[in-house]
Amino acid sequence: MTATATATIAAAVLVAGFFAVASPTAFNVTPISFDGGYTPLFGERNIVRSPDGRTVKILLNQHSGSGFISSALYYHGLFSASIKLPSDYTAGVVVAFYMSNGDIFEKNHDELDFEFLGNIKGKQWRIQTNVYGNGSTSRGREERYQLPFDPTAEAHHYSILWTNSSIIFYIDEIPIREVVRTEAMGGDFPSKPMSLYATIWDASNWATSGGKYKVNYKYAPFVSAFSNFILKGCRLDPIQQLPAAEQCRLAAAETAISDYATMNVEKRVAMQRFRQHYMSYSFCYDELRYPKVFPDCKVAESEKDRFWNSGDAKIQPRAVVRRRRWNSRRDRVRSARIDVMKNNEYSSVNRN
Ligand SMILES: *[C@@H]1O[C@H](CO)[C@@H](O)[C@H](O)[C@H]1NC(C)=O
Ligand SMILES: *[C@@H]1O[C@H](CO)[C@@H](O)[C@H](O)[C@H]1NC(C)=O
Repeated sequence: MTATATATIAAAVLVAGFFAVASPTAFNVTPISFDGGYTPLFGERNIVRSPDGRTVKILLNQHSGSGFISSALYYHGLFSASIKLPSDYTAGVVVAFYMSNGDIFEKNHDELDFEFLGNIKGKQWRIQTNVYGNGSTSRGREERYQLPFDPTAEAHHYSILWTNSSIIFYIDEIPIREVVRTEAMGGDFPSKPMSLYATIWDASNWATSGGKYKVNYKYAPFVSAFSNFILKGCRLDPIQQLPAAEQCRLAAAETAISDYATMNVEKRVAMQRFRQHYMSYSFCYDELRYPKVFPDCKVAESEKDRFWNSGDAKIQPRAVVRRRRWNSRRDRVRSARIDVMKNNEYSSVNRN
Protein backbone atom coordinates (compact mmCIF):
# COMPACT_ATOMS: atom_id res chain seq x y z
CA MET A 1 0.00 0.00 0.00
CA THR A 2 1.27 3.47 -0.79
CA ALA A 3 1.93 5.98 1.94
CA THR A 4 -0.93 8.11 0.61
CA ALA A 5 -3.39 5.24 0.75
CA THR A 6 -2.31 4.43 4.27
CA ALA A 7 -2.73 8.05 5.26
CA THR A 8 -6.16 8.21 3.64
CA ILE A 9 -7.33 5.15 5.51
CA ALA A 10 -5.89 6.50 8.74
CA ALA A 11 -7.73 9.76 8.13
CA ALA A 12 -10.98 7.93 7.45
CA VAL A 13 -10.54 6.10 10.72
CA LEU A 14 -9.82 9.36 12.49
CA VAL A 15 -12.84 11.09 10.98
CA ALA A 16 -14.99 8.07 11.74
CA GLY A 17 -13.71 8.51 15.28
CA PHE A 18 -16.05 11.47 15.56
CA PHE A 19 -18.91 9.07 15.68
CA ALA A 20 -17.45 6.65 18.15
CA VAL A 21 -18.29 7.10 21.79
CA ALA A 22 -15.89 9.77 22.95
CA SER A 23 -13.14 8.36 25.12
CA PRO A 24 -13.42 9.65 28.65
CA THR A 25 -10.55 12.11 28.40
CA ALA A 26 -8.82 13.98 25.64
CA PHE A 27 -5.32 12.69 24.84
CA ASN A 28 -5.37 10.47 27.94
CA VAL A 29 -4.64 13.48 30.11
CA THR A 30 -6.13 13.16 33.59
CA PRO A 31 -8.83 15.78 34.03
CA ILE A 32 -9.19 17.92 37.13
CA SER A 33 -12.31 18.81 39.08
CA PHE A 34 -14.14 22.06 38.42
CA ASP A 35 -13.02 23.62 41.69
CA GLY A 36 -9.49 22.37 41.08
CA GLY A 37 -9.02 24.86 38.28
CA TYR A 38 -12.01 27.12 37.86
CA THR A 39 -14.13 29.59 39.75
CA PRO A 40 -17.51 31.23 38.92
CA LEU A 41 -17.29 34.45 36.93
CA PHE A 42 -20.89 35.68 36.65
CA GLY A 43 -24.45 34.39 37.05
CA GLU A 44 -23.37 32.21 39.96
CA ARG A 45 -26.95 31.09 40.62
CA ASN A 46 -26.94 29.63 37.11
CA ILE A 47 -23.84 27.49 37.68
CA VAL A 48 -24.71 24.00 38.88
CA ARG A 49 -21.99 21.60 39.98
CA SER A 50 -22.54 17.84 39.95
CA PRO A 51 -22.16 16.18 43.37
CA ASP A 52 -18.71 14.83 42.45
CA GLY A 53 -17.56 18.26 41.25
CA ARG A 54 -16.46 16.92 37.88
CA THR A 55 -19.30 18.30 35.75
CA VAL A 56 -20.75 21.75 35.81
CA LYS A 57 -23.80 23.04 34.03
CA ILE A 58 -24.02 26.66 33.01
CA LEU A 59 -27.47 28.06 32.33
CA LEU A 60 -29.02 30.94 30.51
CA ASN A 61 -32.49 31.94 31.62
CA GLN A 62 -34.56 35.13 31.55
CA HIS A 63 -32.59 36.50 34.51
CA SER A 64 -29.02 35.87 33.47
CA GLY A 65 -26.41 33.96 31.56
CA SER A 66 -23.45 32.51 33.43
CA GLY A 67 -19.80 31.74 33.12
CA PHE A 68 -16.65 30.61 34.86
CA ILE A 69 -12.95 31.48 34.69
CA SER A 70 -9.74 29.64 35.51
CA SER A 71 -8.33 30.52 38.90
CA ALA A 72 -4.88 31.03 37.38
CA LEU A 73 -3.26 32.47 34.29
CA TYR A 74 -1.60 30.09 31.88
CA TYR A 75 1.23 30.51 29.45
CA HIS A 76 1.06 27.85 26.70
CA GLY A 77 -0.30 24.31 27.08
CA LEU A 78 -3.31 22.11 26.37
CA PHE A 79 -6.71 23.39 27.45
CA SER A 80 -9.70 21.16 27.02
CA ALA A 81 -13.25 20.45 28.13
CA SER A 82 -16.01 18.07 27.17
CA ILE A 83 -19.02 20.13 26.21
CA LYS A 84 -22.64 19.21 25.63
CA LEU A 85 -24.73 21.96 24.11
CA PRO A 86 -28.36 22.84 24.82
CA SER A 87 -30.82 21.17 22.46
CA ASP A 88 -34.09 22.27 20.92
CA TYR A 89 -34.66 25.91 19.94
CA THR A 90 -31.42 27.79 20.75
CA ALA A 91 -31.44 30.75 18.34
CA GLY A 92 -29.57 33.73 19.78
CA VAL A 93 -27.76 31.60 22.36
CA VAL A 94 -23.97 31.58 22.37
CA VAL A 95 -21.77 29.19 24.31
CA ALA A 96 -18.05 29.94 24.36
CA PHE A 97 -14.95 28.15 25.57
CA TYR A 98 -11.97 30.42 25.17
CA MET A 99 -8.73 31.90 26.45
CA SER A 100 -8.22 35.61 26.87
CA ASN A 101 -6.33 38.26 28.80
CA GLY A 102 -8.75 41.07 27.91
CA ASP A 103 -9.29 41.95 31.56
CA ILE A 104 -5.58 42.71 31.99
CA PHE A 105 -4.67 44.13 28.59
CA GLU A 106 -7.61 46.24 27.48
CA LYS A 107 -5.94 47.65 24.37
CA ASN A 108 -3.70 44.81 23.28
CA HIS A 109 -5.24 41.58 24.50
CA ASP A 110 -4.76 38.05 23.15
CA GLU A 111 -7.58 35.57 22.61
CA LEU A 112 -8.23 32.03 21.33
CA ASP A 113 -11.88 31.05 20.87
CA PHE A 114 -14.26 28.19 20.39
CA GLU A 115 -17.69 29.79 19.95
CA PHE A 116 -20.91 27.85 19.47
CA LEU A 117 -23.80 29.66 17.83
CA GLY A 118 -27.30 28.41 18.57
CA ASN A 119 -29.96 27.92 15.95
CA ILE A 120 -33.67 27.60 15.30
CA LYS A 121 -35.35 24.25 15.78
CA GLY A 122 -34.22 21.59 13.32
CA LYS A 123 -31.07 23.49 12.38
CA GLN A 124 -27.80 22.53 13.95
CA TRP A 125 -25.40 24.62 16.01
CA ARG A 126 -22.51 26.19 14.15
CA ILE A 127 -19.07 26.51 15.63
CA GLN A 128 -16.44 29.13 15.03
CA THR A 129 -12.81 29.51 16.01
CA ASN A 130 -10.91 32.74 16.24
CA VAL A 131 -7.41 33.99 17.01
CA TYR A 132 -6.44 37.47 18.20
CA GLY A 133 -3.05 38.72 19.31
CA ASN A 134 -1.99 41.97 20.88
CA GLY A 135 -5.34 43.65 20.21
CA SER A 136 -5.71 42.60 16.55
CA THR A 137 -9.49 42.99 16.82
CA SER A 138 -9.72 44.65 13.41
CA ARG A 139 -8.22 41.50 11.90
CA GLY A 140 -10.65 38.79 12.94
CA ARG A 141 -9.34 35.40 11.94
CA GLU A 142 -12.72 33.65 12.07
CA GLU A 143 -13.43 30.28 10.64
CA ARG A 144 -16.84 28.63 10.86
CA TYR A 145 -17.77 24.99 10.57
CA GLN A 146 -20.69 22.64 10.72
CA LEU A 147 -20.16 19.76 13.08
CA PRO A 148 -20.15 16.19 11.77
CA PHE A 149 -22.21 15.12 14.78
CA ASP A 150 -25.10 16.40 16.85
CA PRO A 151 -23.35 18.38 19.63
CA THR A 152 -26.50 18.35 21.75
CA ALA A 153 -26.75 14.54 21.83
CA GLU A 154 -23.63 13.95 23.88
CA ALA A 155 -20.46 15.65 25.10
CA HIS A 156 -17.45 16.00 22.82
CA HIS A 157 -13.91 17.14 23.58
CA TYR A 158 -12.94 20.61 22.45
CA SER A 159 -9.25 21.39 22.96
CA ILE A 160 -6.91 24.29 22.35
CA LEU A 161 -3.19 23.65 22.08
CA TRP A 162 -1.12 26.81 22.36
CA THR A 163 2.66 26.84 22.18
CA ASN A 164 5.21 29.43 21.27
CA SER A 165 5.20 28.28 17.67
CA SER A 166 1.68 27.08 16.88
CA ILE A 167 -1.97 26.85 17.83
CA ILE A 168 -4.07 23.78 17.15
CA PHE A 169 -7.83 23.56 17.68
CA TYR A 170 -9.00 19.99 18.21
CA ILE A 171 -12.41 18.37 18.32
CA ASP A 172 -12.28 14.85 19.76
CA GLU A 173 -8.52 14.69 19.18
CA ILE A 174 -8.91 15.59 15.50
CA PRO A 175 -7.13 18.80 14.55
CA ILE A 176 -9.54 21.12 12.78
CA ARG A 177 -7.30 24.17 12.54
CA GLU A 178 -3.60 24.86 12.83
CA VAL A 179 -2.07 28.32 13.03
CA VAL A 180 1.68 28.24 12.61
CA ARG A 181 3.47 31.32 13.91
CA THR A 182 5.23 33.29 11.21
CA GLU A 183 7.35 36.36 11.57
CA ALA A 184 4.90 38.27 9.36
CA MET A 185 2.12 37.72 11.92
CA GLY A 186 4.06 39.85 14.37
CA GLY A 187 2.06 40.56 17.51
CA ASP A 188 -1.07 38.94 16.02
CA PHE A 189 0.12 35.60 17.43
CA PRO A 190 -1.01 35.39 21.10
CA SER A 191 2.02 35.84 23.30
CA LYS A 192 0.91 36.84 26.80
CA PRO A 193 -0.48 34.67 29.62
CA MET A 194 -4.23 34.06 29.38
CA SER A 195 -7.12 32.78 31.52
CA LEU A 196 -9.63 30.15 30.42
CA TYR A 197 -13.30 31.04 30.22
CA ALA A 198 -16.59 29.28 29.58
CA THR A 199 -19.76 31.28 29.17
CA ILE A 200 -23.34 31.09 27.98
CA TRP A 201 -25.18 34.27 27.10
CA ASP A 202 -27.88 35.99 25.08
CA ALA A 203 -26.46 37.22 21.77
CA SER A 204 -29.86 37.82 20.16
CA ASN A 205 -28.55 40.76 18.17
CA TRP A 206 -26.09 38.76 16.05
CA ALA A 207 -25.76 35.04 16.74
CA THR A 208 -28.39 33.55 14.44
CA SER A 209 -28.89 34.77 10.86
CA GLY A 210 -27.40 38.15 11.80
CA GLY A 211 -29.87 38.71 14.62
CA LYS A 212 -33.02 37.72 12.76
CA TYR A 213 -33.86 35.02 15.31
CA LYS A 214 -33.72 36.04 18.98
CA VAL A 215 -33.51 34.00 22.15
CA ASN A 216 -36.96 32.62 22.97
CA TYR A 217 -37.21 32.20 26.74
CA LYS A 218 -40.13 29.86 26.35
CA TYR A 219 -37.36 27.27 25.84
CA ALA A 220 -35.28 28.36 28.86
CA PRO A 221 -33.25 27.38 30.71
CA PHE A 222 -30.61 26.77 28.08
CA VAL A 223 -28.15 24.37 29.65
CA SER A 224 -24.62 23.54 28.59
CA ALA A 225 -22.69 20.84 30.48
CA PHE A 226 -18.91 21.00 30.88
CA SER A 227 -16.69 18.20 32.19
CA ASN A 228 -13.25 16.59 31.71
CA PHE A 229 -11.45 19.79 32.55
CA ILE A 230 -7.87 19.83 31.34
CA LEU A 231 -5.61 22.77 32.17
CA LYS A 232 -2.29 21.24 31.30
CA GLY A 233 -0.27 24.32 30.72
CA CYS A 234 2.22 26.37 32.55
CA ARG A 235 0.27 27.78 35.47
CA LEU A 236 1.84 31.08 36.37
CA ASP A 237 2.76 31.80 39.91
CA PRO A 238 1.90 35.47 40.49
CA ILE A 239 4.30 35.67 43.45
CA GLN A 240 7.31 34.77 41.35
CA GLN A 241 8.65 37.79 39.56
CA LEU A 242 10.28 35.76 36.79
CA PRO A 243 9.01 36.35 33.25
CA ALA A 244 6.58 33.72 31.93
CA ALA A 245 9.14 32.21 29.56
CA GLU A 246 11.52 31.57 32.48
CA GLN A 247 8.85 30.10 34.74
CA CYS A 248 7.59 27.89 31.94
CA ARG A 249 10.74 26.37 30.54
CA LEU A 250 10.08 22.88 31.94
CA ALA A 251 6.39 22.84 31.00
CA ALA A 252 7.29 23.99 27.48
CA ALA A 253 9.76 21.13 27.11
CA GLU A 254 7.11 18.64 28.25
CA THR A 255 4.51 20.06 25.87
CA ALA A 256 6.95 20.05 22.97
CA ILE A 257 7.29 16.25 23.05
CA SER A 258 3.58 15.51 23.67
CA ASP A 259 1.45 13.96 20.95
CA TYR A 260 -1.07 16.81 21.13
CA ALA A 261 1.64 19.31 20.20
CA THR A 262 2.93 17.19 17.35
CA MET A 263 1.48 17.17 13.87
CA ASN A 264 2.04 14.20 11.60
CA VAL A 265 0.82 13.06 8.20
CA GLU A 266 -2.28 11.28 9.56
CA LYS A 267 -3.36 14.29 11.56
CA ARG A 268 -2.80 16.68 8.66
CA VAL A 269 -4.85 14.48 6.35
CA ALA A 270 -7.66 14.22 8.90
CA MET A 271 -7.60 17.97 9.38
CA GLN A 272 -7.75 18.56 5.64
CA ARG A 273 -10.69 16.19 5.34
CA PHE A 274 -12.56 17.91 8.12
CA ARG A 275 -11.97 21.33 6.62
CA GLN A 276 -12.91 20.19 3.15
CA HIS A 277 -16.21 18.79 4.34
CA TYR A 278 -17.25 21.02 7.19
CA MET A 279 -15.70 24.47 6.92
CA SER A 280 -18.42 26.94 5.94
CA TYR A 281 -16.53 30.25 6.22
CA SER A 282 -12.91 31.33 6.27
CA PHE A 283 -11.42 34.77 6.81
CA CYS A 284 -8.72 33.77 4.32
CA TYR A 285 -11.26 33.90 1.47
CA ASP A 286 -13.22 36.92 2.70
CA GLU A 287 -11.90 39.44 0.18
CA LEU A 288 -14.83 41.78 0.80
CA ARG A 289 -13.80 42.31 4.40
CA TYR A 290 -10.07 41.78 3.96
CA PRO A 291 -8.85 42.80 0.47
CA LYS A 292 -5.29 42.07 1.57
CA VAL A 293 -4.69 38.39 2.32
CA PHE A 294 -3.30 37.64 5.79
CA PRO A 295 0.34 36.49 5.91
CA ASP A 296 -0.69 33.30 7.72
CA CYS A 297 -3.20 32.26 5.05
CA LYS A 298 -1.87 29.56 2.79
CA VAL A 299 -4.34 30.04 -0.04
CA ALA A 300 -4.56 26.97 -2.26
CA GLU A 301 -6.36 27.71 -5.53
CA SER A 302 -8.17 24.37 -5.36
CA GLU A 303 -9.54 25.24 -1.94
CA LYS A 304 -10.25 28.86 -2.84
CA ASP A 305 -12.58 27.68 -5.62
CA ARG A 306 -14.95 26.34 -2.97
CA PHE A 307 -15.55 29.81 -1.51
CA TRP A 308 -17.25 33.03 -2.57
CA ASN A 309 -15.27 36.22 -2.07
CA SER A 310 -17.40 36.79 1.04
CA GLY A 311 -15.50 33.92 2.63
CA ASP A 312 -18.60 31.68 2.61
CA ALA A 313 -18.44 28.19 1.14
CA LYS A 314 -20.34 27.95 -2.17
CA ILE A 315 -21.78 24.63 -1.14
CA GLN A 316 -22.66 24.86 2.52
CA PRO A 317 -21.81 21.71 4.43
CA ARG A 318 -24.77 19.65 5.55
CA ALA A 319 -25.33 19.62 9.26
CA VAL A 320 -26.02 16.49 11.20
CA VAL A 321 -29.25 17.33 12.93
CA ARG A 322 -30.57 14.02 14.07
CA ARG A 323 -28.77 10.84 14.78
CA ARG A 324 -27.09 9.22 11.84
CA ARG A 325 -28.36 5.99 10.39
CA TRP A 326 -26.90 3.15 12.35
CA ASN A 327 -25.54 0.33 10.33
CA SER A 328 -23.20 -1.59 12.52
CA ARG A 329 -23.54 -3.37 15.78
CA ARG A 330 -21.22 -0.85 17.39
CA ASP A 331 -23.52 1.95 16.29
CA ARG A 332 -26.55 0.20 17.74
CA VAL A 333 -24.72 -0.29 21.03
CA ARG A 334 -23.81 3.37 21.02
CA SER A 335 -27.39 4.33 20.25
CA ALA A 336 -28.54 2.36 23.26
CA ARG A 337 -25.96 4.12 25.38
CA ILE A 338 -27.21 7.50 24.20
CA ASP A 339 -30.73 6.52 25.21
CA VAL A 340 -29.44 5.60 28.65
CA MET A 341 -27.67 8.93 28.89
CA LYS A 342 -30.80 10.76 27.84
CA ASN A 343 -32.66 9.25 30.73
CA ASN A 344 -30.16 10.06 33.43
CA GLU A 345 -29.47 13.16 35.42
CA TYR A 346 -26.83 14.31 32.94
CA SER A 347 -29.25 15.70 30.40
CA SER A 348 -32.46 16.20 32.28
CA VAL A 349 -32.84 19.58 33.85
CA ASN A 350 -36.15 20.93 34.95
CA ARG A 351 -37.63 23.41 32.58
CA ASN A 352 -38.86 25.85 35.17
C1 LIG B 1 1.72 45.10 21.07
O1 LIG B 1 0.97 46.28 21.27
C2 LIG B 1 1.66 47.27 22.02
C3 LIG B 1 0.67 48.39 22.32
O2 LIG B 1 -0.11 48.69 21.21
C4 LIG B 1 2.89 47.70 21.22
O3 LIG B 1 3.60 48.68 21.95
C5 LIG B 1 3.78 46.49 20.99
O4 LIG B 1 4.87 46.83 20.17
C6 LIG B 1 3.01 45.37 20.31
N1 LIG B 1 3.82 44.16 20.29
C7 LIG B 1 4.04 43.48 19.18
C8 LIG B 1 4.87 42.27 19.32
O5 LIG B 1 3.59 43.81 18.09
C1 LIG C 1 9.01 32.31 21.26
O1 LIG C 1 9.29 32.60 19.91
C2 LIG C 1 9.75 33.91 19.71
C3 LIG C 1 9.76 34.19 18.22
O2 LIG C 1 10.00 33.05 17.46
C4 LIG C 1 11.10 34.07 20.40
O3 LIG C 1 11.60 35.36 20.21
C5 LIG C 1 10.92 33.79 21.90
O4 LIG C 1 12.16 33.80 22.55
C6 LIG C 1 10.26 32.46 22.13
N1 LIG C 1 9.87 32.35 23.53
C7 LIG C 1 9.88 31.20 24.20
C8 LIG C 1 9.34 31.23 25.57
O5 LIG C 1 10.31 30.17 23.73
